[in-house]
Amino acid sequence: TWVLWNDRLVKDGDIQLSKEDRGYQFGDGIYEVIRVYNGSMFTATEHIDRFYESADKIKIVIPYTKDVFHKMVYDLIEANEVTSGQVYIQITRGATPRQHQFPTNTVEAVLTAYTKELQRPVSEMTNGVSVKTVEDIRWLRCDIKSLNLLGSVLAKQEAYEDGCFEALLHRGDSITEGSSTNMYGIKDGVLYTHPATNLILNGITRRVILACCEEIGLPVVEEPMSLASVFLNEEFFMSSTTSEIIPVIMINGRKLGKGLPGDWTQKLQTAFEAKIN
Ligand code: PDD
Repeated sequence: TWVLWNDRLVKDGDIQLSKEDRGYQFGDGIYEVIRVYNGSMFTATEHIDRFYESADKIKIVIPYTKDVFHKMVYDLIEANEVTSGQVYIQITRGATPRQHQFPTNTVEAVLTAYTKELQRPVSEMTNGVSVKTVEDIRWLRCDIKSLNLLGSVLAKQEAYEDGCFEALLHRGDSITEGSSTNMYGIKDGVLYTHPATNLILNGITRRVILACCEEIGLPVVEEPMSLASVFLNEEFFMSSTTSEIIPVIMINGRKLGKGLPGDWTQKLQTAFEAKIN
């Protein structure tokens, strides 16, 4: 398989990364994950825009125009003949003797991207999953898709060890999102989700879902939900590029509602599916 290494497609084994790459030492970089359905990228423009926004927020300059970059990622997918899969892209502030402050402008950012075949999580989407509530100890710039994922890693592991698919993060009494997903509750025919502030990543899937809500006539309220009120929701689900829309049927071992994927959630799945085909 081919990988993208800066502006070149090289064989996977030919990529050379420095032990002093700032991504490796400091998590000093940002990333994106883009879904590929039937050989084409889904919502590529949105993901590429967010990639540039994340870079800009941490003052990494991507040395390509968005159009050139889009073409580079497209060529990678073509070269690897990806049909159903994903492309992972990251850029770091580059390699330089270890020091916290930024290196001089002569140090070049390091871009890497690779593809992977991936099937849709049909079983989870159909049957629903369990989540565990975990305190959100991440930093205050969760809007940046940063390589620093330790807060998310620890939360996901804690959920996983309890047999759960995902961690439902809360800052104090306020639900934010999942460790790698956005979270939504539905109560009395209204969808509630955290507003796109610095405390969550504004998911691209989230944006598609909000458009689907409009289409199916489900009103949306973007405000933080309290942890205490979580079981008042009749339905609950999560979303991400790779998870799409996965119903949450159990929280901390307790059934939510009937413990089955809800009607609105299924309508959203249908509306979402229509966009990816
Ligand atoms: N995760 N919130 C967080 C913290 C995330 O890491 C992600 C994405 C999302 C959903 O965003 P989107 O719909 O744009 O994928 C929300 C990616 C897929 C990952 O880390 O693998």
